[in-house]
This record gives sequence, C-alpha cells and structure tokens, in this order.
Amino acid sequence: MLAEIFFMTKFLRCLTLVLYMLLPSYRSAAQIAPLIANISSRQTTSLDGQWQAIVDPYDVGAFDYRAQPLKNKNAFYKNYKPQSESELVEYDFDTSGQLQVPGDWNTQRESLLLYEGSVWYKRSFDYAKSPKRRLFVHFGACNYFAAVYLNGEELGAHEGGFTPFDFEITDRVRAHDNFLVLRVNNTRGKDQVPTVNTDWWNYGGITRPVTLVEVPETFVQHYFIQMEKGSTHQIKGWLQLSGRQPQQNVAVRIPEAGLSKVFQTDARGRAEFTFSANLILWSPENPKLYNVEIAAETDQVTDRIGFRSIEVRGTDILLNGNPIFLRGTSLHEEAPLRASRAWSDDDARTLLGWVKELGCNFVRLAHYPHNEAILRMADQMGLMVWAEVPVYWTIQWENPQTLHNAENQLNEMIARDHNRAALIIYSVANETPISDARNRFLRQLIQDAHSADPTRLVSGALQAHEVAAGNRLTIHIDDPIAVDLDVLGNNEYIGWYVHRPEDADSIDWISQYGKPMIMSEFGGDALFGYHGEAHTRWTEEYQENLYEHQIVMLKRISFLRGMTPWILKDFRSPRRPLPRFEDYFNRKGLVSDHGEKKKAFYVLQKFYRGLQSVQPPK
Ligand code: GCU
Repeated sequence: MLAEIFFMTKFLRCLTLVLYMLLPSYRSAAQIAPLIANISSRQTTSLDGQWQAIVDPYDVGAFDYRAQPLKNKNAFYKNYKPQSESELVEYDFDTSGQLQVPGDWNTQRESLLLYEGSVWYKRSFDYAKSPKRRLFVHFGACNYFAAVYLNGEELGAHEGGFTPFDFEITDRVRAHDNFLVLRVNNTRGKDQVPTVNTDWWNYGGITRPVTLVEVPETFVQHYFIQMEKGSTHQIKGWLQLSGRQPQQNVAVRIPEAGLSKVFQTDARGRAEFTFSANLILWSPENPKLYNVEIAAETDQVTDRIGFRSIEVRGTDILLNGNPIFLRGTSLHEEAPLRASRAWSDDDARTLLGWVKELGCNFVRLAHYPHNEAILRMADQMGLMVWAEVPVYWTIQWENPQTLHNAENQLNEMIARDHNRAALIIYSVANETPISDARNRFLRQLIQDAHSADPTRLVSGALQAHEVAAGNRLTIHIDDPIAVDLDVLGNNEYIGWYVHRPEDADSIDWISQYGKPMIMSEFGGDALFGYHGEAHTRWTEEYQENLYEHQIVMLKRISFLRGMTPWILKDFRSPRRPLPRFEDYFNRKGLVSDHGEKKKAFYVLQKFYRGLQSVQPPK
C-alpha cells in the first residue's frame, strides 16, 4: 500500500505523508522494522550477486495506463508467469537480463549511465529457517526510493539513498522458491533530500549489500556503548532487546579489560547503564578497539568498539582531553579505480590508504552517509570521521515532509554508526542559503543529532561573506546557524571560482563565535598529466600553486582547527560537461580517477607531515 503512495500525484503523496507524520512513529511497526545493529556479527546469508532486472522508465510495472496502482498479475512484484500459451503477460524477470548487487546500475550498462527512473530487481532464494528464530532482510542502501516485496506481497518502502533499512519476514518466508522483488527509483524531486541539483552522479540501484539475518525470538536489536560526554573513564550507554522476553539480565563485557557488568532490561526491553572503565583510549596514533560482548539470556552480539572522548573548549577541539588539528580531506563514495559507487572493505581500504598516505588523521565523508565498511575501516586505520546528511544547497525548507525525511536519514545514520570511535562529527548541511525557514530546519536537525547522540559534535559546511578594505579582504564567518553548531565548517574556493590563487595571501578571516573552524572545502581542478604555467587553468601546476597559497592563508587563521580540501579523488558529476578537461568528472581530486597522484597531493602531504610533528597552529 505504502509503495504506491510515493508514486501517486505529489499532492496525494504530501497529504498522505503529512497524515503519516502525525502517527506516533511515522514508520509504522508493520512496515520498516527497527534497525538491527551490527549485521556482520549476526547469523547471516548474503543475497548479493546477479539479480534479475527489468528497466521500467514508464513504471508500467506499478501503474496501469490510468496511473492507477496495479495489484493484479500485471504488477511486476507478482512475478507472474503465463499459465497457458494464450495468456498475456508482458514482463518476465527471468529473460530480462541481470544487474550486479551491490552496485549502481549506471556503470553496469552504457545505456543506463544517465538513467533516472525505476528498475525492478528480483532475487529468488530458498531458506530453511530454524524454528523459534526470526528472520529479517537487511539492505545497506538503495538509491533513492525502494519498494520491497516478498512472494508477491508488499513488505514496505524506504526513502533515502544512503542509509540502511530492514524488514521482518519471519512469517512470510517459505522453505523454497522465495522471490524478493524491489522497485528502486532514483528520480530526483524538489521535495527530496538531496533535492534535484547536486554536483555528484545520481547513481541508482541496490548500492550496498543485501543480507538475510536470522536471530533468536528475543534478540539484542540495538545498543550504544561509548564514553560519556567529556569523560575518558566513564562509559555510558543503552541496549534494546526485541521480542517476547523483553525483561532479561544482560551482561556487557569487555574481556580484555576484565570488565563484566550485568543490567536488567525493562518491560520495553531497554536498559540504560553507566560504569567506570580504565581503558586504552582510541586515537589516530593508537586506534585501539576492544571486543565488546552484549550477552542477553537469549542472544549474544560481539562488536569491535573503541573508546575516546571528543569535545570543544573555546576554539579548540579536544580528543581525549588534548587539543588536536584535523588534517583531512573530503571524499565522495566512489570506488578508487572504477568510477562507480563504492561499498566494499577493499574499496574502503584503498581509499583510506590514500588518505593515510596524504598524512591525514581525519576524513570528511561527503555529502551523504557512506557505507558502513568505510566507517569500520576508519576505526581500524585511526582516521577520525565527519559524517553528513545530504541537506545540500537548496532544500525545500518549508516542507514538513522534507524535514521529516532529513530527520529520518540523520537518525538512521546515527543509529548505524554511533558505536564507531572514529566518528566524531555529524554534519547537517552543506552550502545552504541563509533564511529563517532554513535556520529553523537546520536547528531541528542539530537538536535531533544532539539528542540522539550527546557524545559527538555537530557541524555544517557554511559559506561566509567577504568585506574589502583597501587592498586587503576580510572574510566574516557570520552565518546565524553557527550559534547552534559545536564546530564551524566553511567552504571557500579562493583561487578557483573567486580571486586568483595568490590573493589568498592577503585574505584574513574573522569569526564572532569563539568556536573551532574546519575549512571543509577548498581547491581547484586539474587534469592529471596536463602541465603548463601556474596560471593556466586545468594544469597540475595551477592546482599546486593554489594549494601552496591556500596553506599560507590557512596557517594564519587563529581559530582554524582542521581542513578537508575538496577533494581526495576526481569523481563523476553531471554538472561537468567540458570536453577534454572534465568529461563529466569534477577534477578537483588530488588523485585522478585512475589513482594517479597530482602535484598538489605532495604539497598537502608535505604540509601535513610537517604538522604531524607539532601542536595545532596558534
Ligand atoms: C561545492 C560543493 C561540492 C562541489 C564543489 C565544487 O562547494 O559543496 O559538492 O563539488 O563545490 O564546485 O567542486
């Protein structure tokens, strides 16, 4: 029922969703199940691989020629086969070709590179479920909207291309010939998050792993275990059981530290706890992870968790109580050597390997929640992380459904990653135009982030404005939303979109907020291997020169506590049509889309290596 709503006329859709929002929890229990944490440590069966696929640009699999939702054999989710030579059925998954899952569809077929619309996926499977066990189907992400069906019945739907969701199929799965069908649609919409305009490729599809997860009748559904805000020796957290035995004794154990604490869950299956712990703290220099066991009477889960504190004091960012400088780079979720969506451990290891080689201790995962693999890899490799929701450019600030969507994506991102020590900052916005409606929208997200996870910092990539005085330029950080942020982020393109690279030498920055700032973007394009004068656009020398002058300017900003230049690697963008130099790639990478390092890579590496041996610049 829900799936068809999203494809009804906009008004009906908005009306229905506003009504939906008035429901106590907008995602009714019957539809999306509460997110199961830490899938990889559960009993799982992967459904990854080749899936049957039907490309359906006119949604004939969902609506009849009167745009009425289909419910009969013609609905593709029925996977109906003609019962006789004379019966008319105009679709057939099994002769319609295949697509690899996980993976975007755009780079799997030339004909789909720019495709925006619906694609139907079908995966058949047998499953021998053990009695007294529950079964869920979990999706790492599907871009942008996914309607999900099992054995011809609707399971539910999910909106948002970068966060996980799951459905319970315990009473729906059968031993043989199950068919799981998804309709995935990446059509852009003004009221969506992100909206219609982005400087990244609108990769569509089932872009992250699909997993069957079998758990006991009452299982450890979720937990949050981190150092209490501002503490390096007090753990604070909660855990949530799901099932018919909510009240249990649950042990939280850290065997390596000789820690074992038992808590009672209440009638809702929830326990909140705090206890002191003398642990080796996680840091980039020593990314210490502990095996943490959450053992209920009916289920046990083990996770690899690091413990550290992160906070601000004046213009300083403190990791484990010590001031730090965040030596970073920005990154899109594109695979290192194939310009398509990244999703795997190997993708993460290669990308973060380049980040480490640059001399970084920090990475901005832009502009949307990246896959879980790269968060866990950052935990292991000792890289602090800025994670972001795609509230990007001109969102519909007045639209309550859009706000709800953004809140949902934020909550899902936090729910998936809040046990990762590497994750230190949530960002709620990128280059959003100042207005009262926008401020209200962002304040709501900032509040949501702080209440969902009081242990981490909240930021946003703002845009400042310039004031000229004589031959000097001063840039003022004066965005009103800065009052609500813990850390200020700022994007600037001095030397590329505005001014000349060398003008940075005489630009000053001031902020009235007394807070730390991260220069969340700066940079310029260069085509790897194209060489010339330092003032010749697109050459490596131009980018090199730009970075040299940027570093001079950045060093002079007294409240600067980090930087994530734009960007580690060239990436696909539909906004970049210039032949020879762009060819639908944004070329601001320090590394090309073939993994080749440009001259500016070494300028930044030299600066970061220099910083590694000294305290943050005053
Ligand atoms: C913006 C934006 C990026 C974009 C970059 C650019 O600041 O945040 O998404 O790619 O500029 O123009 O290269």
